[in-house]
Order: sequence, then C-alpha cells, then structure tokens
Amino acid sequence: MKYFTPESTELCVSRIAQGCMRIAGLSDRELDAMIGADLDAGINFFDHADIYSKGRCEEKFGAYLRRNPSVRDKIVIQTKCGIVIGKRYDFTEKHLIECAEGSLKRLNVEHIDVLLLHRPDALCEPETVAKVFDKLHGEGKVRYFGVSNHNSFQLQLLQKYVGHKLVFNQLQFGPAHTGMIDSGLHVNMTDSASVMRDGMTLDYCRLNGITVQPWSPFRAKNGRFIGSIFHLRLNRALKKIADKYGITVSAATLAWILRHPARMQPIIGSTDGVRIIGMAKAAETEITHEEWYDVYRAAGNSIP
Ligand SMILES: NC(=O)c1ccc[n+]([C@@H]2O[C@H](COP(=O)([O-])OP(=O)(O)OC[C@H]3O[C@@H](n4cnc5c(N)ncnc54)[C@H](OP(=O)(O)O)[C@@H]3O)[C@@H](O)[C@H]2O)c1
Repeated sequence: MKYFTPESTELCVSRIAQGCMRIAGLSDRELDAMIGADLDAGINFFDHADIYSKGRCEEKFGAYLRRNPSVRDKIVIQTKCGIVIGKRYDFTEKHLIECAEGSLKRLNVEHIDVLLLHRPDALCEPETVAKVFDKLHGEGKVRYFGVSNHNSFQLQLLQKYVGHKLVFNQLQFGPAHTGMIDSGLHVNMTDSASVMRDGMTLDYCRLNGITVQPWSPFRAKNGRFIGSIFHLRLNRALKKIADKYGITVSAATLAWILRHPARMQPIIGSTDGVRIIGMAKAAETEITHEEWYDVYRAAGNSIP
C-alpha cells in the first residue's frame, strides 16, 4: 500500500479507502474478516455516513472497535452528515451537531477524524457551518472537515467563511462516470462532452489542495460495469491491463483512477476480503499514459 498526507493535515492515509456503506448486514465474524483484510492490505481509512442503513453501519463499526480497541489508533475514521433521508438536506446548527454527536456515539469513538457535509444544502448558511465546525473542533470532537458532492463554487463559498481548511471532496468517479474530466478534454467544442456541468471541480480541488475521494468507482449508469454485458469493451480494456500487471480487473480499475495526477483517494465498497486484498495491489501498479486513454475511450468516451 502507498500512503499520503492530505494538504494541511497531519494524517497519513492509504491511497485506497474502505467504504462502510454496505456493512450493516455482516455478521461480527464477517466484519472482522473485512477489516482484517483491510488492515492486512494496509488500508487505514474508513468512510461512513450517519445515514448508512439508518446508523446501523456506524453501530456495527463501533461494536467492532469495542471488540478490538487497539485498532482505533491505527485507523482514520471519516463520516458524513447533513442529510435527512428522503426529505431534505439540512446544514442547520441543530441538525449538524446532532449528526456529529450521534456518529460519535454509534462509532464508539472520542473523536471523528474527518467530518464531511454529505450533499449540498440549498439553504446552507456558510456562517452557520463555520460556527458548527469551530464548536466541534474546539470540543475535540472532530479533527478535520470536508465536503461531498460539492462543486467548485460551493466549495469557495463555504471556504470563504469556514476557518478550517476543507480537506476532502467526495464525488462519484470511475471509468464509467467521467463527468469531472470530459469537458476539460473537449474545450471550446460543441458536442455534449464539452458541456461543463460542475465548475471544473476536479481542477479546482487540485488548485486548492483538496483531495478528491471517488465514490462507487465500479458503478455505471446501469449498475456495476465489471462483468456486465453492457460494458464489454471497457471490461476487455481493463482485463488487458489486469493480465499485463498480474492484478484483478477491479484493481486495474483503481489503478486507472490512481494514475490521474490529481492523486485521488478512491473509496471501495466491497466487503469481500479476497477482493479487497486484490484491489489493494492497485496502489503499487502504475499504468501507462496510453493505457489510461485506452480505458477512457473503451468506456465509450470520445476525444476530439
Ligand atoms: N458521498 C456519497 O454520496 C457516496 C455515495 C455512495 C457511496 N459512497 C461511499 O463510497 C463507498 C463505495 O461505494 P459502493 O459500495 O457503491 O462502491 P463500489 O466499490 O463501486 O461497489 C461495491 C459493490 O460492488 C460489489 N462487487 C461485485 N463485484 C465486484 C468486483 N469485481 N469488484 C468490486 N466490487 C464488486 C461489491 O460486492 P462484494 O462486497 O461482494 O465485493 C459491493 O457490493 C461506500 O461504501 C460509501 O462509503 C459515498
């Protein structure tokens, strides 16, 4: 595994992170095996959200930490807040504080390493977010802050008021979901790929030292692309890379993400130890410039 230090932090985190959105249904034995595989593979970063299975994922993780207290200091725990499922996004002081307090309790930790705002709230008052972050940090409950699914202008607006550096922006990204880079390859053209929908968020994050965390790296519009008959060309291109470097197709996918110079930190959602160990090899694999474009085009993208 390889590690890096996100700008303005004292963290040392693995290039690949483990997402915990799918752990609610695991038995204790299965969760122990999953986290055991992560630690064996050198993955030390775990992503949560208060809403995953209505708090059950955080609870399961908290129970794991009770069974294995020595693990806490070896890992970085991130969680997200600000969604009221199916109803609204809520960055009011009351809601954000309740979310953070609830996560602390469920995760059974004294502090959360990183807290992200999960999705933009149209009614967001950045002064309020600044106040909440100061309070949570001042009380020793949260070390670092960031966002998820925010564009460059929303980041700028928040950062104008928030005194703490926004360290991460978690966004969907993978070979079959490349919106963040398409328009940058089609500058000044008239095709649909040239439409800039996100305010060049990836470039903005690079300029401002914000680490992008790609979520659901294996997802396409019509479900997972690995092994899918709807994505034969993409699977063939990834298999070619997998065979060349002696890694799995999933690892080839992650190697493609890691090859991008933005130094993104993909979040994998697998709970299968064998798959996790295989995927971790991506961090040691550097694909070529040509292979990166082969995968990009095999996913159905054009270049002008
Ligand atoms: N910020 C946001 O809005 C947001 C949204 C969604 C997710 N997330 C975060 O991103 C994390 C990852 O999301 P995700 O679970 O949708 O991502 P994913 O890694 O793209 O998908 C993982 C799922 O694919 C399955 N899978 C089947 N074959 C696979 C293969 N060959 N390689 C890899 N996976 C395979 C896994 O099953 P097995 O368990 O059997 O391997 C698992 O159910 C979440 O846990 C969460 O932390 C964030």
